[in-house]
Amino acid sequence: MKLAVIGCGYVGLVTGGCLAEIGHEVIATDNDSAKMAVLEAGRVPIYEPTLEPMLASARKAGQLRFTADPAEAIHAADVIFICVGTPPRETGAADLSAIDSVARMIANEARTPKLVIEKSTVPAQTGSNLKRALTVYGRSGGTLFRVASNPEFLREGTAIGDFFHPDRIVVGIEDSASAEQLREIYAPILEGRFSCPVHSGKCPPAVKPEFLVTTIASAELIKHASNSFLGLKISYANVLSDLCEKLDGNVEEVTRAVGLDPRIGPHFLKAGLGFGGFCLPKDIQAFMHLADSVGVDFGLLREAERVNRQRIDRLMEKVHHFLWVIKDKQIGLLGLAFKPFTDDIRLAPALEVIRRLIAEGARLRATDPEAMERTRALFPDIAYSADPYEVARGADALLLLTEWPAYKKLDWARVHKEMARRLIIDARNQLDPLEMRLHGFEYDSFGRAGSRA
Ligand SMILES: NC(=O)c1ccc[n+]([C@@H]2O[C@H](COP(=O)([O-])OP(=O)(O)OC[C@H]3O[C@@H](n4cnc5c(N)ncnc54)[C@H](O)[C@@H]3O)[C@@H](O)[C@H]2O)c1
Repeated sequence: MKLAVIGCGYVGLVTGGCLAEIGHEVIATDNDSAKMAVLEAGRVPIYEPTLEPMLASARKAGQLRFTADPAEAIHAADVIFICVGTPPRETGAADLSAIDSVARMIANEARTPKLVIEKSTVPAQTGSNLKRALTVYGRSGGTLFRVASNPEFLREGTAIGDFFHPDRIVVGIEDSASAEQLREIYAPILEGRFSCPVHSGKCPPAVKPEFLVTTIASAELIKHASNSFLGLKISYANVLSDLCEKLDGNVEEVTRAVGLDPRIGPHFLKAGLGFGGFCLPKDIQAFMHLADSVGVDFGLLREAERVNRQRIDRLMEKVHHFLWVIKDKQIGLLGLAFKPFTDDIRLAPALEVIRRLIAEGARLRATDPEAMERTRALFPDIAYSADPYEVARGADALLLLTEWPAYKKLDWARVHKEMARRLIIDARNQLDPLEMRLHGFEYDSFGRAGSRA
């Protein structure tokens, strides 16, 4: 099947690359000419494990093509995946202007019937507005457009594996032909007929994914409901962590036991610096805004968001507790990306930590395996180094802000030697408190009993 992908960001590149990998002919486009130049030159503008070789092999096989000309992509395809950004507006509502402008472009350019799929995360009712826009903007005489929703559940850092081993594929449709077309697109995944680029033939055993056919509004709600629930779980664990600090509990013991209950589950119960990234914070805001707009009180989410924002305050309280005065203190930052295995810093908690530390006059050095360049563009005056030991050199404190596995394996005896004051504040609960104390560090983390010196 001939597919077009509009929007070559994270989701567009992963979706386009994976669809090509399972045998479809894909043509991808974006209105960012600099990004298209990079892609057309065979490079990849973001870091995601496996993405670069997968795109290269799909291009070599002639399954994937990039074009800066949207008309070319629209003319070539029967099915169009809209993967543009839906960032938050000041009110918290999703900004759907990119969806609207793509709708206009499709309506103007299409000469044959198209199935137009929302892959971007959008509030419920966007499907019907998209359908209306395609009709209103369309050429007289009218091209037949069908609209569907196919929300994306990928996790940055493991996005390719998530595409090949999903737990569910949700398709919101207005007619059964669209469901059949989408089932055909995903047939190789549903039937296990693919060679997985992540595990090269040795995929971990997995349950067969469910193909869920719903209304378009339900599919849109499913995506916001899923992300919001994940945010709720994290904020719940973070409040537990504050309680544990006051009452001598250990949040890891508590959340592990709580999560063993299959009605609750172990995932997203990790206490620490809270959630960031381009999905959870903005999707929760958009979902709250949507609920408000139809008169439904979703105070539960407002609270989850407030708890999440307070995580930075909690960290700063710890920094003040140990360092007293921050001005002129040298502070090393381990990790900048919003999570490991990505270079994405959008709404990363580390950025707000940096802003606050700079406002108080700290001297900062930072490291991250992938996200230094993006962070440098925002904070050019920080000293950056790929070498964590250099970041530790002469520091009054090290703050661990992203749980890259490499930080667990640092030579802590060497770090100890490098630092001026041996203070580690582990905002991701990644290190073992006992081991850190045995190494001679003052060590603190979130909600782990006895972890405060
Ligand atoms: N990043 C994730 O982990 C993730 C996961 C699931 C869903 N989503 C959702 O998918 C959507 C895209 O997310 P992303 O992370 O890929 O965003 P992104 O910002 O990385 O990519 C969006 C791309 O769309 C392009 N674009 C914007 N307007 C355009 C237009 N009019 N025509 C053509 N291209 C245009 C931009 O140039 C950009 O390259 C969002 O709605 C997001 O919420 C993201």
